[in-house]
Amino acid sequence: MAMWGGRFAAGTDQLVAQLSESVSYDRRLYAHDVRQSIAHVRMLAKQGIVTDADADACVDGLRRIQADIESGAFGAWDPALEDVHMNIESRLTKNIGVSGAKLHSARSRNDQVATDLRLYLREEIDRLTLLVRRLQRALVEQADAHCATLMPGFTHLQHAQPVVFGHYLLAYCEMLDRDAGRLRDCRERMDFCPLGSGAMASTTLPIDRFFTAEQLGFVHGPCRNSMDAVSDRDFAVELLSAISVSMMHLSRLSEDLIFASSQEASWLELGDAFCTGSSLMPQKKNPDVCELTRGKTGRVYGDLMALLTVMKGLPLCYNRDMQEDKEPVFDAVDTYRALLQIYADMIDSIKLRAERMRAAASDPALMATDLAEWLVRRGVPFREAHHRVGALVGYCARQSKALNALTLEEMRHSVPEADEECLRLFDPERSVQARDVFGGPAPNQVKRQVQFWRSQTWYP
Ligand code: ARG
Repeated sequence: MAMWGGRFAAGTDQLVAQLSESVSYDRRLYAHDVRQSIAHVRMLAKQGIVTDADADACVDGLRRIQADIESGAFGAWDPALEDVHMNIESRLTKNIGVSGAKLHSARSRNDQVATDLRLYLREEIDRLTLLVRRLQRALVEQADAHCATLMPGFTHLQHAQPVVFGHYLLAYCEMLDRDAGRLRDCRERMDFCPLGSGAMASTTLPIDRFFTAEQLGFVHGPCRNSMDAVSDRDFAVELLSAISVSMMHLSRLSEDLIFASSQEASWLELGDAFCTGSSLMPQKKNPDVCELTRGKTGRVYGDLMALLTVMKGLPLCYNRDMQEDKEPVFDAVDTYRALLQIYADMIDSIKLRAERMRAAASDPALMATDLAEWLVRRGVPFREAHHRVGALVGYCARQSKALNALTLEEMRHSVPEADEECLRLFDPERSVQARDVFGGPAPNQVKRQVQFWRSQTWYP
C-alpha cells in the first residue's frame, strides 16, 4: 500500500507506477533529503510537536540510512515508493517504528523536494564555480606565457589586425568571470528555505521556519510566501540559463580551437589526451573534446528549454509536471561539470606553433589601419585617411603587390604625406606594441591584465 494509500480502494496500475516513479534519478538527492529531515525533526522536537526521544530516534535512524546508502547496505530503491523522499521515510519507519511515522508532521513532499533541490544546487554551484576558476587560471597562465606571441585577430573570420595570443585567451577569461558572477547571483537568489510551506498553505502546527532555515544554512531565512515556495523553479531555470551562457562561451572557444588546430591554420596542437583517432584513417588526430563541447552546448540549451516549457502555464501551486524538472537540471549540471573538469587540462596541453601564427599575423594588409592612424596623427580626418589607404590597398591588389613592397613613390600616389616611417609600419610586432591602450593587445597591457587576474582572491 502506498504511503498515501488511505483513500484508495485499488492499487496503482503497473505502467502508471513506472511512469510516476522518480527515484531512479532523484535518489541523488538522498544526502540533502536526510540533512533536511534531521533539521526538520529537531525543529519538531524544539516546538514540542514530537518528543525528544522521537527526534533522537529519527536523527539516528536517518544517519544510519545515509551510511547504508553510501555503503550499499541500503539495497535496492523501491520504485513503488515513487521517489527518494518516500523511500527514505518508509525505510526509517521500518527501521525505528512509530517515531519514524512522525517525521513527516507539518511537511509535504512539495516543500521537501523544493528544499532538497535548493540544497543540492547550492552545493553544485560551489563546485562548478571552483571549476570555472580553475579554467580561468589555465587561461591566465597560458596568456602569461604568450603575452608577446603574435596572431591575427579576426572579424567575419577574415584577418583583421594583429594581436597576441595572450590577449585572445584573456578574452575568454573575462567571459568566464561573468559566468562565475551569474552562478553567484543565482545562488544568492535561491538562498531561501521553502521548508514549512507544506503542500502550499503551511501548517496548523506551531513550527519554527526560521530555525530550520538556519539549520540548513539558508542565509536569507525562510521563503516569505508558502504558495510561491512550492511553485517556484525559477532558481533552476536561472541556473540552467547561466550554464547555457557559459556553455556558449565554451562552445565558441572550442570552435576557435578546432579552427586553430586544423591543417589550414596549424597554429596549435592539443595534447594527445584530449584528441581521438579515426578507426579508418591512421593519420587522424581529431579535436573531439572541442566538438563534443560544441555539440553538448545544444543539449544543455535543450535542458533549459525543456524546463521552461514544463513550467510554462502551470497553475499555482505544485503540479506533478514539476517532477520533470530534475532530469534536465541534473543533465545540464552533469554535462557542464564534466566539460569544465576536462577543459582546464586541455588548455594546459596546448602547444603553439608560434612561427605559423606569427606568419599569419605578418600580412602587411593587417596593418592598413596603422597607416590610416598615422595619417590621423598628422591631422588628416579619419574618414579621408581611411579612403586614401583604401585606394592604396586597391592599387596593391591590382598590381599583385604587398603593401610593404611599395616604394615611397608609389605610396605617395595615394598618401602624399608618406615618409620613410610609413614603410616601417607594416611590422606586426610594432603594430601590437603601438596598441598600448587599456584593454588593448600591447604585450605590457596583456601583462597588466595577467597581474589583475593573479591578484583576485580566488587565484592561488
Ligand atoms: N517526486 C516529486 C517531485 O519531484 C515530489 C513531490 C510530489 N508531491 C506530490 N504531491 N505528488 O516533484
